[in-house]
Amino acid sequence: ETVDWNVEDTGKSGYDHYMLKEIHEQPRALRQCLSGRVDERRGEVTLSELEGLETPSAVHLVACGTSYHAALYGVQLFHSLGIPAQAFLASEYATGVPPLGDSLVVGITQSGETADTLSALREARARGARTLAVTNVVGSTAARECDYALYIRAGPEIGVAATKTFSSQLVSLNLLVEYLAGDQRSSEERRAVLQTLRDLPGRVQQVLDESMAEEVAAEYLGADGYFFIGRGLNYPVALEGALKFKEITYEHAEGFAAGELKHGTLALVTENTPVFAVVTGEDAPAKKTLGNVREVESRGAPVIAVTDDDQIERYADASLRVPSGSARVAPVLVNVQLQLVAYWVANALGRSIDKPRNLAKSVTVE
Ligand code: AGP
Repeated sequence: ETVDWNVEDTGKSGYDHYMLKEIHEQPRALRQCLSGRVDERRGEVTLSELEGLETPSAVHLVACGTSYHAALYGVQLFHSLGIPAQAFLASEYATGVPPLGDSLVVGITQSGETADTLSALREARARGARTLAVTNVVGSTAARECDYALYIRAGPEIGVAATKTFSSQLVSLNLLVEYLAGDQRSSEERRAVLQTLRDLPGRVQQVLDESMAEEVAAEYLGADGYFFIGRGLNYPVALEGALKFKEITYEHAEGFAAGELKHGTLALVTENTPVFAVVTGEDAPAKKTLGNVREVESRGAPVIAVTDDDQIERYADASLRVPSGSARVAPVLVNVQLQLVAYWVANALGRSIDKPRNLAKSVTVE
């Protein structure tokens, strides 16, 4: 008996696409990212490549696409430390650099070669800022040109759609913030955060093992458009869920801060525009997002809750579950479900998943 195979299939380890393989590689990628860097018992983060980097008084994060969504998440982590931070689309930053003060400028770029991000970092450097690249590629242009480089260690990513590298960026930003936190965090707080990070790869595995995303994707094929909403730390993943969906399904999708949809786009919401609502945790933000869910439901839109809430059936047509726990890492778990939904819709539509039309893995023009 013979088996048909070629080199590319071997590279996909039996998966139909690199993207699906890379989605499933996330537990391993996150373990690699954390390896040797976290001592949760002592509450210590070691990032040897950042030795000498002092806690900044302010931070600018610059990035494009998926990496920009990681930057939006990073901003909220810096705010939790009391450090003013802003995220900028790299292409806009390079066009008009905002007042820098004493800011550390952090470029988030998987490839380390994105022209817009390199250009923003160069502008910042020319104005005397300290720069840090958060990147996957050792020896990349961003890593070489910045004062510091923090490696996300996700391993090679072949699919044009960023998947495991986004998760690794979010975890790396957690490490960066804890590393810079100094006395701002009690060792008890730090230990709790680090334990959460340590548990995260196992939780991602649980999402992968139990996901109903393929069934949900089949149920909502052929809609007029898709909306993604989330609040706070879940806002960046609502944007990321929509970007991934557009990129590989070629269907129209938009992501919003949950409170914003009603300020205009609600006019487009109908019974044929499913809304993916990210609702995790039980505090005020989640309750407000539930209010937004009711707004779209009353316009007849199907709601798919991406949630850790057991009682979700009361207010959603379908749900994609994530394990409950820390609000801080919930976006990583939620994002895995949204990656899988995009993948299964694109697969059902027969799209070119690993190399979507018009797109390149690394965009080297401004
Ligand atoms: C992600 O799925 C996209 N392919 C794209 O948005 C990408 O994240 C963006 O071009 C930035 O790339 P970088 O992280 O390599 O700089």
